[in-house]
Amino acid sequence: MINFFKKKNYKEEIKEELNIFDEKEKIPSHIAIIMDGNGRWAQRRFLPRIAGHKEGMNTVKKVTKRSSQLGVKVLTLYAFSTENWKRPDPEVTFLMQLPVDFFDTFVPDLKKENIKVQVIGFTEGLPSHTRKAVMEAVEETKSNTGMILNFALNYGSRSEILEATKNIAQLVKDNSLEIDEIDETIFESQLMTASLGAYQEVDYLIRTSGEERMSNFLLWQNAYSEFYFTNELWPDFNEKSLENAIGVYQKRHRRFGAL
Ligand code: FPP
Repeated sequence: MINFFKKKNYKEEIKEELNIFDEKEKIPSHIAIIMDGNGRWAQRRFLPRIAGHKEGMNTVKKVTKRSSQLGVKVLTLYAFSTENWKRPDPEVTFLMQLPVDFFDTFVPDLKKENIKVQVIGFTEGLPSHTRKAVMEAVEETKSNTGMILNFALNYGSRSEILEATKNIAQLVKDNSLEIDEIDETIFESQLMTASLGAYQEVDYLIRTSGEERMSNFLLWQNAYSEFYFTNELWPDFNEKSLENAIGVYQKRHRRFGAL
């Protein structure tokens, strides 16, 4: 409730009540986004679904730049899941071309913004032109020291966790590791997010389009993250939407299981 009679702090109270974003307040270090609603955005305009993905790529550019400017350390984007292969062939083909077009046009901006590209997922399963485009972007931006733009491509969290488990079992079998030594740090060292160092854990999970589920995305890494669901479709999401979302985060009190 806003108390309009308590004059001294009423501006702060309104700000809090309305989740008003404040650039000087805490910014989530690791934001992960499930970019949903491209198909519906296109269908509402009587366009083919791929038009939504194309527009979604422009949203990626806007959100990447704004996140970097705000001081976000890692932005992980769920671009293609291990389940997305079930989509019709022409749509999969288009989605596999998107990273090529994205990096063709956006690497100079990424360099200018000091953004470093990384990738998680089973990249060996990607078509060679997609993998090549991603790996070239990783190479070209590897010495950048600013925000990490982390693409999840052909990514699935359960498979990631199973792979980590197999790797650890192998280490035990080879006598390189004792069972009692297995802890969260060891386990995380085998996850695809290990290279994110101090920022492996997600702070803020955003999903667009009104769906409220995790869809096999960073299940371990989201253990203590805050969730934000918005009805906005991904192609409509923009810099202001991101700021609104962060405004909500700034009001949350994360307790990590404590009081
Ligand atoms: C989900 O919307 C979106 C995807 C499966 C693809 C996400 C990809 C992009 C936003 C572009 C990625 C850009 C780069 C640079 C790789 P949906 O198709 O499931 O939408 P719907 O639920 O409305 O059908």
